[in-house]
Amino acid sequence: MIKGDTRVHSLYGSPVSHSLSPVIFNRTFEKLCLNRTYVPFEITKDKLEDAVEAARTLGFDGFNVTMPHKTAIIEMLDHLNDGTEMIGSVNTVSRTNRGLVGHNTDGEGAVRALRSYGFEPNNKRILVLGAGGAAKALVHRFSRENNKIRILNRTLDKARQLADRASGPCRISYGELDKNSLENSLRDTDLLVNSTPIRTSALLSQLKIPLNKLKDTGWVFDLAYDKHSEPIPAGSGMISPLEMLVHQAALSYEIWLNETAPFALMRSSLVDWLGKDWK
Ligand SMILES: NC(=O)c1ccc[n+]([C@@H]2O[C@H](COP(=O)([O-])OP(=O)(O)OC[C@H]3O[C@@H](n4cnc5c(N)ncnc54)[C@H](OP(=O)(O)O)[C@@H]3O)[C@@H](O)[C@H]2O)c1
Repeated sequence: MIKGDTRVHSLYGSPVSHSLSPVIFNRTFEKLCLNRTYVPFEITKDKLEDAVEAARTLGFDGFNVTMPHKTAIIEMLDHLNDGTEMIGSVNTVSRTNRGLVGHNTDGEGAVRALRSYGFEPNNKRILVLGAGGAAKALVHRFSRENNKIRILNRTLDKARQLADRASGPCRISYGELDKNSLENSLRDTDLLVNSTPIRTSALLSQLKIPLNKLKDTGWVFDLAYDKHSEPIPAGSGMISPLEMLVHQAALSYEIWLNETAPFALMRSSLVDWLGKDWK
């Protein structure tokens, strides 16, 4: 129940109505009898600055940021935690005595999800589609290991900028997200990470690439999810975006509450709500 002293967390993005983060957080807060709530707000690009000021004024106890604000929000914050500046994208904001601090839990959340499927992102050929906020976090994380990373994006310049930022032992290349580049890259890929909002099957169909071309790709990891679709098919080689969603949410929880997150409870909260596990 929301009371006079309930701590408020929120999500800023557009769109947000499909988001499953409120389910994970509110069910978890409820089960642990924590006097906290999590509210999604539809915030368009032109309203982000006002929304960040509102979070300060209203004293939100930390909030998440999603598409399309992960990069733009950086200049509206007071500090970035270690490493987030290098990533160039924020998905979690904490309220501290130093003001609003930006963090990014997407990269570590993705790696934890991959590991839960037995995939270790080291010495692997990784193809990343998209070069937005989520791609920045994942490429930054993958570039810390000896991976071979290829980035394909609709806007070539953004793929180049992302490749230029990468450091560490990885080998990195980039190109435009078109039929030839994607079709050629699929052959030499252990992991395809699709960080565009379009499902891989739909993207292939738009580019007139037969779906069976994916058979040479070890694992397919769509980051986008849709609460109206069935839980992700459990077929071999598919990493569920929901596994990453819970891991990155658990990392946000730890930043806000400064304690170990109840990961199993957060995961089962979502599984129960969906009525089905995704693995
Ligand atoms: N499962 C999870 O836990 C999790 C975590 C993070 C994000 N996500 C999901 O990942 C997706 C991306 O998030 P984001 O924050 O990275 O968004 P973003 O910063 O807005 O970036 C979106 C990227 O997708 C590309 N794109 C957009 N529409 C496209 C289209 N029609 N065809 C081809 N490429 C297109 C953009 O290309 P341009 O550069 O050309 O605009 C850009 O590179 C969202 O669906 C988000 O919900 C899921």
